Amino acid sequence: MNTTHAVITAIGGYVPDTVLDNAALEKMVDTTNEWIVARTGIKERRIASDPLMATSDMTVLAIKDLIEKSGIDPLEVDCLVLATSTPDRLLAPTAVTVCEKAGLQNAFAFDLNAACSGFLYALSTGAALVETGRYKKVLVAGTDKMSSIVNYEDRNTCILFGDGSGVVLLEPNHEGVGIQDNIFRTDGKGVQFLSVPAGGSALGSNEDTVNQKQHFVQQDGRTVFKNAINGMTTACKDVLERNSLTADDIDWVVPHQANLRIIDAVGQNLGVDKDKVKVNIERYGNTTAATLPLCLWDYQADFKPGDKILFTAFGAGFTWGASLAVWGNLRTRQN
Ligand code: UT7
Repeated sequence: MNTTHAVITAIGGYVPDTVLDNAALEKMVDTTNEWIVARTGIKERRIASDPLMATSDMTVLAIKDLIEKSGIDPLEVDCLVLATSTPDRLLAPTAVTVCEKAGLQNAFAFDLNAACSGFLYALSTGAALVETGRYKKVLVAGTDKMSSIVNYEDRNTCILFGDGSGVVLLEPNHEGVGIQDNIFRTDGKGVQFLSVPAGGSALGSNEDTVNQKQHFVQQDGRTVFKNAINGMTTACKDVLERNSLTADDIDWVVPHQANLRIIDAVGQNLGVDKDKVKVNIERYGNTTAATLPLCLWDYQADFKPGDKILFTAFGAGFTWGASLAVWGNLRTRQN
C-alpha cells in the first residue's frame, strides 16, 4: 500500500496536582455536589494554581512525559501544532515558547485556536503535514489553562472547566494504519453563545470590560448543549457513512468531554454501546483542547492495533467535527 497515513505513535499528558472538587465549589458559588454530578458528571477538576504554570509549561510537561515514554530524540521533531484557546499571551505563539523550553530545536511551531475542537483540527493539520512526506515526526498538543479565563463567581461556567495538557506524536505509516478521514464544520452564529467577549481586537480590555467581567468565559449553556449533541452526532454519522462503516464497526468512541449528558446522548444517537465510549470527565472536567489527548493518555492501554476509533468534538465558534482512525503500535523505549 503506497498511501501515507499519519499514525499516533506516542502519547504524553500532564494535569496539575491541585484538585478543585465539587465540595470546594459549594463554598465558592451557590451550587451543590449533587447538581453538578447530575447535570454534568463532573466530580473534580485540576487547576494550575501556581501562577507560573502557563499553558506553555503544561505543554512542556506533557511533551516530556511523551519523550520519556517513547524514547524519541527531541531534535528529531519537525513540527509542533499546539491547539489552545488560552495562549501564554496574545502575541507570540505559545508553541514557539514550548519548543524553546522543551528543547525541540529543529521544529517549527504554531498555535491553532478552534476552542474545544482545537485538538481534532490540529490532529488533522498535523496529519496533513505528515501525509506530504516532508515531515516525519509531528507533535500535536492540546492544552488549556481554563482557570485563567473562568470567573469563579459564575456558577454557570466555573463548575465545568479544568486545566491540563495532552500531546501525541504523528509519524508516517504505509500499511493503512492511522488517521483515515475527518469531517469538520463551523457556524459563526455560535460566537454569541460561547466566548470571552473582551481582550481581543473586537473589544480591547479596559476598565469597563474588566468591571463587567468580559475577560471571562460567558456561555448560554442550554444552546451550546443542544448544538453540541446535534453537531457531534451528525459529524460522526457522516464520517461513518463516507467510509462505508456502521457504529458496529467502531471499537472506541473518544468524545470531547464537556458534559456527561452530551456524551451519553451522542453515544445513544449513534447506537454505540456505553462501554465503547471513553469518559474521564469526572476527574478533569472540561479541559477544552486537552480533553481528547487526555482521554487517549488515560485509556491508551485499552487501544489495540487495528482498532477503529471515532473522535468527535464540539466547541466555541461554533466548531465541530469527527475523525476516524485505525490504531497502530505505540513506541516504547525499546522499539
Ligand atoms: O465544550 C463545549 C462547550 N461547552 C459545553 O458543551 C457545555 C454545554 N452546556 C452544558 O453542559 C449545560 O447546559 C450546563 C451544565 C452548563 C447547564 O446545565 P443545564 O441542564 O443546561 O442547566 P440550565 O442552564 O438549563 O439550568 C437549569 C437550572 C437553572 O435554574 P432555573 O432557571 O431552572 O431555576 C439554573 O439557574 O439550574 C440552575 N443552575 C445551577 N444550579 C446549581 C445553573 N448552574 C447551576 C449550578 N448549580 N452550578
